[in-house]
Amino acid sequence: MNSRIFYTKPSITELEVRYATDAAANGWGEKCYEYINRFEEAFKAHLGVKYAIATSSCTGALHMGMDALGIGQDDEVIMADTNWIATASPIVHLGAKPVFVDILPDSWCIDPELVEQAITPRTKAIVAVHLYGNLCAMDKLLAIGEKYGIPVIEDAAEAIGSVYHGKRAGSMGKFGAFSFHGTKTLTTGEGGMFVTNDPALYEYVLTLSNHGRSRGQTKQFWPDMIGFKYKMSNIQAAIGCAQIERIDGLIAGKRRIFSYYKKNLSDLPLKMNPELEGTKNGYWMPSIVVYEGYSFDREALLAEFKANDIDGRVFFSPLSMLPMFDAIPKNSVSYNLYNRAINLPTYHDLEESEMNKVIKIVRACL
Ligand SMILES: Cc1ncc(COP(=O)(O)O)c(C=O)c1O
Repeated sequence: MNSRIFYTKPSITELEVRYATDAAANGWGEKCYEYINRFEEAFKAHLGVKYAIATSSCTGALHMGMDALGIGQDDEVIMADTNWIATASPIVHLGAKPVFVDILPDSWCIDPELVEQAITPRTKAIVAVHLYGNLCAMDKLLAIGEKYGIPVIEDAAEAIGSVYHGKRAGSMGKFGAFSFHGTKTLTTGEGGMFVTNDPALYEYVLTLSNHGRSRGQTKQFWPDMIGFKYKMSNIQAAIGCAQIERIDGLIAGKRRIFSYYKKNLSDLPLKMNPELEGTKNGYWMPSIVVYEGYSFDREALLAEFKANDIDGRVFFSPLSMLPMFDAIPKNSVSYNLYNRAINLPTYHDLEESEMNKVIKIVRACL
């Protein structure tokens, strides 16, 4: 038996295997889109949105959506500095510039006040990334977007199961993008979803996603524009269909794990993912942030995890620290937080005995 504690792994049951096997055996010819269509329908119902397009990744969904919004050369897109590169790279690929602003110390998500200060005539979009399942201050961001006529995009890659005042993460912005990478709460191995309530945007992204071939085009192999190829396969979608049938249980699993950590770490000088009033956190990644002024050696904790066969996962450092960008040390929350923070292992079948092992090491390191 493998006693290693991974930082995350998917929950695959007989249902996923059955659907994927069926797709591999029968999902061809006339049936080659059946699971894709079914997965999109089920995902729309789960999220409460009108339109969904299954994609090969969240990065691809973001790339197409941003292109469809007309983001291009020398435009600016405002996003949080503490982030994964996947949100920034489509912006750069489109010739635009990611403008990194600081995060809020409680949610670790983008600070709306700084967003407003960063707006220029070249600002084309604001990206709300719901980090680790924590929700952005959507009411404020949407109000700013409205005030300046700038679309708010939701990168909900990490936020399946998170709900903001009755609305699911990813369903509130101009469009939302999800990731079904193997580390995510709902997985298809690799995969993603573009969602929107805007019929024109949907139609445009649908055309983009099919190499620029519009639905109305009757000529074969006749693209109407240069598009993308970010499609999900029917076999991946089959796994997605099984996962979305199990979504309530998958989210409950994440919440069970978070609660256990929280209960057993709450006497320590640290903060964990918040669940602000009126919200529900999907807790994709339970994280600890040690209070300033307390001694904490992240590297020592990681080494101790490693010695005990536990995967350690570092908290995202500011993207502006990377060599491709200019450093922005004035983003002081982002620059001060990552060294005092770490993500804890979380996956559906993680047992209390395994969490106890993790908890014991965290306690010893503090
Ligand atoms: C916030 C965020 N955005 C986008 C992505 C990209 O997702 P994908 O790997 O499906 O392209 C990730 C992936 O981990 C992410 O965490």
